[in-house]
Amino acid sequence: MRGKSVLLIIGGGIAAYKSLDLIRRLVERGVKTRAILTRAGAEFVTPLSVAALTAEKVYSDLFSLTDESEMGHIELSRAADLVVVAPATADLMGKLAAGLASDLASTALLATDKRILMAPAMNVRMWQSPSVRRSADILARDGVLFVGPNDGEMACGEFGPGRMAEPLEIVTAIEKALAIPGSALNGFKALVTAGPTQEPLDPVRFLGNRSSGKQGYAIADALASAGADTVLISGPVEIAAPSHVKLVRVTTAREMLAACEAELPADIAVMSAAVADWRPEFAMNSKIKKEAGHAAPVVRLVENPDILAELAHHQKRPRLVVGFAAETDDVLSHATAKRSRKGADWIVANDVSTNGKGETVMGGERNQVHLITATKQESWPEMAKADVARRLVQHITQHFQDTAS
Ligand code: C5P
Repeated sequence: MRGKSVLLIIGGGIAAYKSLDLIRRLVERGVKTRAILTRAGAEFVTPLSVAALTAEKVYSDLFSLTDESEMGHIELSRAADLVVVAPATADLMGKLAAGLASDLASTALLATDKRILMAPAMNVRMWQSPSVRRSADILARDGVLFVGPNDGEMACGEFGPGRMAEPLEIVTAIEKALAIPGSALNGFKALVTAGPTQEPLDPVRFLGNRSSGKQGYAIADALASAGADTVLISGPVEIAAPSHVKLVRVTTAREMLAACEAELPADIAVMSAAVADWRPEFAMNSKIKKEAGHAAPVVRLVENPDILAELAHHQKRPRLVVGFAAETDDVLSHATAKRSRKGADWIVANDVSTNGKGETVMGGERNQVHLITATKQESWPEMAKADVARRLVQHITQHFQDTAS
């Protein structure tokens, strides 16, 4: 679950207090949690408690979300991997079943392209009423997942089904729901390159690039979560492969190119690897010795294939080719030139100069990027690499929806 993100909608019911514990359980498992608190929900728990536990801004009013460049309601509903409604009241269930969007919570539920998990909580008679039964049936048919309600004594003193599932049961349901791939990119094959390449000089030395692979691994994870058949071609890195992804490990640029070509045809190629531009012309079979009196060896370099450019001009060119551009100065103009020079459709550009504290984006958890296409340039706010990945995949999904229509 680590690195995933959940949008939690807290409806108005006495069980809302359990949602505070749910947030703690999610956060301690590394799940980023953003919350929408309905007006009724705010009668039971305070926005301050929710903000403190999520360490995020709490969203509560549709019309305060005017700053669309920051986080509009559509974006809010799609930035997460899963939308969880806990407690799911009769009101929220009814609104979604009927297609109503009268406040932020119901709007986000209608606008999301992610799976929805509901943890209903209400009085037993309400739960058993014909209209709530109808809502539950419609929602289940529409693919909404449910956890609970459980049987037991209710806050109102009655007994029967209607108690919200316990936080740990909801966590288990969230874990299961997150493991089901989405469907937006079903039937699409995606290739992602990530990490550095290492170009051997002798059996113990190599020429390489600084790259943790984190951004590329997050992109592969996001593509697979959106339902794409995803192959991650990775240079040597220290991180674990995401689930649902076919991992192909390589060392050199030439191996990376061969592995990419072996996976063609594909629909999407996202080339985020930091490929070494050059390699030593000869790799020695035994370790080069340092010997007293001998001059330091001179290493002649030869150019490596440019994998991005090769795929962009390939006979079996993927339909969408996305490159990366790590720049230290004039980020936008260099990246724009790189897009056309290499024949990529899009370039994701980032500034890898130091941030003044001597840190760079490399190896870190956050990234601030610009998306450059043939027709637009967008600068995204700094965010977690997993969020950059999700946002890129939203653009990819939108691109294929637009070109299909
Ligand atoms: O030219 P530069 O290395 O800045 O280009 C960056 C982009 O090109 C990235 O998408 C990177 O993965 C790709 N690239 C490549 N093969 C190379 C060099 C870069 O695929 N030999």
